[in-house]
Amino acid sequence: MDTHADDAISYPTYLKLSELLALQVPQSTPVHPDELLFIVVHQSSELWFKVMLHEIDHLVSHMVAADSLAALNTLKRLNGLMSIVAQSLTALDTLPPQRFAEFRGYLGKSSGSQSDQFRAIEAASGLREEHFIQVLKEHGPIPPLVQAALDRPTLQALYEGMLEKAGVTLEGVYAAKETTPHFLLAEELLEYEQGFAKWRFLHVQLVERIIGPLTGGTGGTLGAKYLNRTVAQRFFPALWAVRAKVYGPGKA
Ligand code: HEM
Repeated sequence: MDTHADDAISYPTYLKLSELLALQVPQSTPVHPDELLFIVVHQSSELWFKVMLHEIDHLVSHMVAADSLAALNTLKRLNGLMSIVAQSLTALDTLPPQRFAEFRGYLGKSSGSQSDQFRAIEAASGLREEHFIQVLKEHGPIPPLVQAALDRPTLQALYEGMLEKAGVTLEGVYAAKETTPHFLLAEELLEYEQGFAKWRFLHVQLVERIIGPLTGGTGGTLGAKYLNRTVAQRFFPALWAVRAKVYGPGKA
């Protein structure tokens, strides 16, 4: 690998800062002072989504190769990223309803529900519920990025494949007294599920705080009512169920 730095490269050229910093273009006229924050929280979330999809690709390769420790390492990073994205929503807690109402009309029909990357993350992680597929189809043909994620096995299926290869069962992993890499990986997958649910919860709370619980979204849904329904969605139903199977009433 050539590790030699090009002398012409500097901080602004490497990061393409002039292009990057020209991408925040408020739509309101006169420009509303809070629109910049609104744009930046969304744009930065999309950048983190890009990294998350990239890391999910690596996670999938490690799982296909049945490399628990490499998968664990990647998953830890993914969980760190998920937590940053969730935390970044709190910047918008400082946007009161009357101020958002002053520029909301300029957003037209644009809505986070049109985020292909968010949908691809959900699909790659393992959402296959009917409600989710129905929401995907409501926006016209499924985008290629999302379709590619849907065509892959879910993370739960990949994890189960790893166990099968190793000749162990999920119940066995949770019944064992010793801490195994398979157990740590399962718990880290649950951490991911929880991190995602935290984002959903913080987002729906933000929505209720800014536009109220009964206002419809710019994307045409029932707003918070629709979003609240998504909080219960699960990527890893088997990992939640195994607790009761092994340690439920009358088991342990
Ligand atoms: C003022 C702040 C925000 C409000 C009022 C808001 C409102 C909404 C509403 C009402 C929906 C439901 C779909 C619709 O009908 O539009 C939605 C969906 C969504 N929003 Fe936001 N949002 C805000 C901030 C954000 C931020 C910062 C992100 C970061 C990317 C984001 C990402 C999403 C995503 C990914 C969905 C789809 C969720 C799903 O279908 O499960 N939103 N938003």
